[in-house]
Amino acid sequence: QKNLPLFGKKVLVSAGPTYEKIDPVRFIGNFSSGKMGIEIAKNAAKNGADVTLVCGPSKEKSDGYNIQRIDVVSAEEMKSEMESHFENSDIVIMSAAVADYKVINPATEKIKKSESELIIHLTKNPDILKGLGEKKTHQILVGFALETNNEMEFAKGKLEKKNLDFIVLNSLQDEEAGFQKDTNKITIISRNGEPVIYKAKNKTEVAQDILNFIVENYKI
Ligand code: PMT
Repeated sequence: QKNLPLFGKKVLVSAGPTYEKIDPVRFIGNFSSGKMGIEIAKNAAKNGADVTLVCGPSKEKSDGYNIQRIDVVSAEEMKSEMESHFENSDIVIMSAAVADYKVINPATEKIKKSESELIIHLTKNPDILKGLGEKKTHQILVGFALETNNEMEFAKGKLEKKNLDFIVLNSLQDEEAGFQKDTNKITIISRNGEPVIYKAKNKTEVAQDILNFIVENYKI
């Protein structure tokens, strides 16, 4: 409907964890459930946007909404999907918890138990969001920062380094925030203006707050 605030806008969202293969039966991952990013995708669709959701392994459903969902597993796969949809997007929100490291040469057969220590060599994954920040032209680019300490300072560093319009800080110090919970507590830090601190809310309302912040503060 034409009267919806994001009518006709192309919104690209990432959600969930990435899994990095160790061998055919094991991986390195993290505790992200996908809830936060999927709520953003659903709310953008409810607000009239054309939504593409690039989602790491997650049980959370997004059926019944006008969302093009692309399921991926690894950071490399997520990067390639985010990059191929980036150019054509108006708003890009990266809420996935991307693994910072991947395994060098994952084993092709199951690794057998032995008496000695097992050493797995890791190498850095690409920083997907930083790469998008370098390609940014007209897009509004939004990142998340998940911190445990020096939250403001680290989040501001990521805002600058990744060339974002704003960053959504959530801290594991807050009981209502973080992985798998139905609630989150965020602070929005933008390039100009004071940080906006929100109360703890459920992730649907948090998603709506983030989208409202875009509608109210940026030309889209
Ligand atoms: O999925 P839920 O269970 O609902 O949990 C939600 C959440 C806690 C995962 C979410 O709210 C959140 O904070 N997501 C970002 C987690 C994260 O990886 O933060 P970071 O501070 O490590 O990364 C900063 C930003 O760079 C993020 O936007 C991240 O997507 C991006 N990044 C990070 C590493 C990397 N290699 N590539 C990236 O693009």
